[in-house]
Amino acid sequence: MRKPLRKAIFPVGGLGTRFLPATKAMPKEMLPVVDKPLIQYAVEEARAAGIEEMIFVTGRGKSAIEDHFDYSYELQDLLKERNKDAELAMIDNLLPNPGEFAYVRQQEARGLGHAVWCARNLVGNEPFAVLLADDLVQAKTPCLKQMVEVYNEVGGNVVAVMDVPKAHTDRYGILKTGKESGRLVEAAGLVEKPKPDVAPSTLSIIGRYILQPDVFAHLDQQTPGAGGEIQLTDAMAKMCGRGRFHGYRFEGRRFDCGDKAGFIEANIAYALNHPKIGGRIRDAVLDFAEQQVKVARPEAAE
Ligand code: G1P
Repeated sequence: MRKPLRKAIFPVGGLGTRFLPATKAMPKEMLPVVDKPLIQYAVEEARAAGIEEMIFVTGRGKSAIEDHFDYSYELQDLLKERNKDAELAMIDNLLPNPGEFAYVRQQEARGLGHAVWCARNLVGNEPFAVLLADDLVQAKTPCLKQMVEVYNEVGGNVVAVMDVPKAHTDRYGILKTGKESGRLVEAAGLVEKPKPDVAPSTLSIIGRYILQPDVFAHLDQQTPGAGGEIQLTDAMAKMCGRGRFHGYRFEGRRFDCGDKAGFIEANIAYALNHPKIGGRIRDAVLDFAEQQVKVARPEAAE
């Protein structure tokens, strides 16, 4: 029988160099989209997918993440005193059940594969998910939940995929595609960040994975790949052709929140959907766009 998916790894040890200076003293995973930090979206997505144990692979300077999911007595007392019930409930909902969260340190930033490997003893011999918090997916059914539904049917390894412009293949793990059926694509192979002229396709992995524990044996080899880092994609590539491995074209829109422009786009998209501020943001965005048209084509504005 297929083992159920109960555990998820959140690699949060990265230094966030693409987002300096904002991320000098603040973890990039704490950057807010509207009013919630990225890591909270990821945790909520994992909960919605039925994950019971969340493993954070963290590093120096990341303690704000642990604090975010812990009691804040002073704040809670103040909210109680001022009868701010809605805010209090919001803070209470952040608290994990005892034992639900575990933290392990990645002492050196040696790549995503190394970060995942650091969680091997906590994962043990069962399937697990990996969520990269800076890939934010806006979807009717949360991305990982969609993947769990598919995983329950096909088993094996499932990674979230989407097509990217050919010029961008060197930013992603890219699939060598096999048979396709609906939203599922067989992964015949995987390559980390290939140059566009040698990329096997434009179908790229985004930061959601459901993996079998065999991947740890491959990660044990610890061979640096693209960028001199230990790559998860390289370890996964060794599993292609040895068992089921699928890419899943998820439904929804992905924002690369590790990138300044992607992060702003995410904020606009989520703000437009927000019940309280959506209308105001819509007016502001339309107004900005109108101003831009006036600057670009003054005759059109007359
Ligand atoms: C990582 C993975 C890459 C994947 C990407 C998705 O790259 O190594 O395979 O396509 O996340 O966001 P990074 O963005 O950390 O360089």
